[in-house]
Amino acid sequence: MELTAIQSGAYLHHIAFESANPERLASYYAEVMDMDLLKISDSEWRCEGPSRQLIILPGANKKMAFVGLSCRNEETLAALRKHIIRNNIEIFENISPYFNIDAFSIRDPDDHIICFGIPDSIEKNQRKAIKGPIQHLTFASLDVERFVDFYHGKLGFQITDRVLHKDGSLATCFTTSNHEHHTIACFKSDHNGIDHHSYETGDWNRIRDWCDHFATKNVQLMWGPGRHGPGNNLFVFIEDPDGNWIEVSAELEVNLNRKTKDWPQAERTLNLWGDAILRS
Ligand SMILES: [Fe+2]
Repeated sequence: MELTAIQSGAYLHHIAFESANPERLASYYAEVMDMDLLKISDSEWRCEGPSRQLIILPGANKKMAFVGLSCRNEETLAALRKHIIRNNIEIFENISPYFNIDAFSIRDPDDHIICFGIPDSIEKNQRKAIKGPIQHLTFASLDVERFVDFYHGKLGFQITDRVLHKDGSLATCFTTSNHEHHTIACFKSDHNGIDHHSYETGDWNRIRDWCDHFATKNVQLMWGPGRHGPGNNLFVFIEDPDGNWIEVSAELEVNLNRKTKDWPQAERTLNLWGDAILRS
């Protein structure tokens, strides 16, 4: 059996960030994003909450070390692997500590390491915390067209929405590997890296709860509340001490049974309610 990314139902399981001050960054996520802090070694921290996991490693600020996408089971993982091999993408050994022996890694055209696997531990995090599973990752890239060729053309992510410049070139592309509007997206930028990652609370009242929690930690919103056009989700953004953008989202569009929609690169596309942060 061979399955594309969308057929495999892959979902974002964890992100590994590099940081010049990993202990500070890990402490921030534990406090502000309501997670348990685990010091694994002098050079590895993990932050874990219900359905949200981060790895923090020494390195450069605002750099992703790797990302982990989980398949639903061993069969879909093996079937996705077959699809990836048939599309002539080189497969490397898995580098994620969260995934089991069948996991593997690939490199995308911007040199991001993507790990596909099944979480090793079946033990669920028991922390009583505000709901907010880690849900999507958004890249910044010099070349969004190349992102689409790889993620849609080769891995088989489904394109849900595109945001176009006046000349027809891509400002943003939203792609998904399951029933959610996007699991991986990409913004045109003046550099290659990460634009933001997001936690999906599901409900507007939980955005209130998160914002009240941020207030107790003296963390101010940097953007929002607002509603995105593509995905139709409610959002707020905060910024971690390294400058990574964090989104807390609700009402993200799901169960897509429609054609790809094109949007103009305009303030209203990024925020139906108010000010936008236009990346390019
Ligand atoms: Fe987002």
